[in-house]
Amino acid sequence: MSDDDRDRWDRRYRGMPPASPDDVCLPTVFRPFAHLFPTTGTAMDVACGRGTAAVWLARRGVTVRGYDISPVAIAEARALAQRCGCAGALFAVADLDGGLPPGDPVDVLLCANFRDRRLDEPMQHRVREGGLVAVSALSEVGAAPSRYRAAPGELQRAFGALDVVACGEADGRAWLLARR
Ligand SMILES: C[S@@+](CC[C@H](N)C(=O)[O-])C[C@H]1O[C@@H](n2cnc3c(N)ncnc32)[C@H](O)[C@@H]1O
Repeated sequence: MSDDDRDRWDRRYRGMPPASPDDVCLPTVFRPFAHLFPTTGTAMDVACGRGTAAVWLARRGVTVRGYDISPVAIAEARALAQRCGCAGALFAVADLDGGLPPGDPVDVLLCANFRDRRLDEPMQHRVREGGLVAVSALSEVGAAPSRYRAAPGELQRAFGALDVVACGEADGRAWLLARR
């Protein structure tokens, strides 16, 4: 399954223009809360894609590790970090089907536009107390049901033990920002 995922995502990323410094940003849903993201400390970006959010965090002063199954995306993320002069953004190919890569607790755990229910608990435990969890995924709310989409209320149930700062689900997307 992961081989298929890797090949599919590699093809998709090869077909897109490479990410440029102009693309560096927080995912749209978290932008109103940008001020809550720290300017020091550490972060993990789970399924980081081409690293646009990880480099945003690194530019802010956070040391970030981004992981993705696609070697094409990781190569682009590294190139983007270099172009932006962000030595604090490090990227590695990882198959998250095998769980989170090992590491110390972080101040920010970002997982944008990726959903693997098996990672819900490990992601929460990877954040230090007071740290921020930012997750978003496709949702069945405002879209046809699918096993790839979060069910209504799913993120709030999965991350409800945290102190939820804000959350939403509409137009086929669900997101949640919380503190541990
Ligand atoms: C919709 S993209 C989101 C990328 C990025 N987080 C963003 O918001 O732009 C989903 C990402 O999940 C990655 N992915 C899919 N299956 C994976 C797996 N088993 N392990 C690690 N990454 C995976 C893909 O390569 C892709 O980059």
